[in-house]
Amino acid sequence: MELFDVYPLYDITPVSAKGLTLVDDHGVEYLDLYGGHAVISIGHGHPRYVNRVKEQLDKIGFYSNAVQNPLQQQLMDALGALSGCDDYRLFLCNSGAEANENALKLASFHTGKSRVIAFHNSFHGRTSAAVATTDNPGINAPINKQQQVTFLNFNDLSSLEKELQKGDVCAVILEAIQGVGGLDEPSTPFYRELSKLCHEHNVVLIADEVQSGFGRSGKFFAFQHHGVDPDIISIAKGMGNGFPVGGILIHPKFKASHGMLGTTFGGNHLACAASLAVLEVLEEEQLIRNASEMGEYFTSCASGIPEVKRVKGKGLMLGLEFDFEVAPLRKRLIVNQHIFTGSAKDKHVLRILPALNVSREQIDQFFTALKKELA
Ligand SMILES: Cc1ncc(COP(=O)(O)O)c(C=O)c1O
Repeated sequence: MELFDVYPLYDITPVSAKGLTLVDDHGVEYLDLYGGHAVISIGHGHPRYVNRVKEQLDKIGFYSNAVQNPLQQQLMDALGALSGCDDYRLFLCNSGAEANENALKLASFHTGKSRVIAFHNSFHGRTSAAVATTDNPGINAPINKQQQVTFLNFNDLSSLEKELQKGDVCAVILEAIQGVGGLDEPSTPFYRELSKLCHEHNVVLIADEVQSGFGRSGKFFAFQHHGVDPDIISIAKGMGNGFPVGGILIHPKFKASHGMLGTTFGGNHLACAASLAVLEVLEEEQLIRNASEMGEYFTSCASGIPEVKRVKGKGLMLGLEFDFEVAPLRKRLIVNQHIFTGSAKDKHVLRILPALNVSREQIDQFFTALKKELA
């Protein structure tokens, strides 16, 4: 059998990893400033994480949502305390797309409507409704095009108001910092007004925090930089530090009924243990503060490089914008300098998404390497 060939692969085979270091099958070390698409939040192989998952596996790894699982309550307590969203309810699933799919479905159940407002350059996943709200016709199959989605520009309030006045919209979905799209952000006045308009028109506001959540932006959630209260918050990526887990935080105004949402694997014992370990390490090691400080340090280092036109994003969800396409530079950083970075839909943006315990020394290592490759 062969893999269905959908990924262009680098010819690198990581066999072990610790912190921000990946080691390949020839013993070559790589600095991981990408975290496998912003997934590695507390570093590879963090001892607390490894022990918690191993210990859980020795006890019970999985049972379905037909029985009591006290780990889910522990996870909710820790998540509520660290995020400040303790009055929300939690539905657990397995990935970012699934989180958004459930968020959109819930918005549609709640309002009885089906049209969604999304934004240009958005990425919300590859399942049916989530991909329809993703601004990329190339990954929308004909079957996905039955969804009714209207794409607007960030900060265009008058178009937003016009669309909401039509009365057929169930949800507005947005990323407070666009990941795949290239690190663009709505302004605070726009996000606040958007939130107000959603409440006035009884439209569900979905904050997609799949990539920006769990501390990556320097606050627990990126929408918290803007002082808004979304109705539904979707989470995944950094939540499990590599263990597949996702979820939605749901405002108490939504009424649950048995069978309304569901999943076989979501919220299983191992996933809860992994996510609990992430939350414990984020708190004990003050990693959200580190994300904010290291983000500032990174930005100050970048300001000394003339080829960098702009640093986009917040905390450790960053993009370096150049006036040339970055794909060859990114490749040279991997092959010559042994540093992983990321690309974006905006081909001029090099994405930087390290674990939240990245150090000054590792950032210095990156800038020394970047200068060499730009020279
Ligand atoms: C903002 C955002 N939402 C949703 C997704 C989809 O997540 P997943 O790949 O876990 O389905 C991603 C993935 O990159 C994302 O960046």
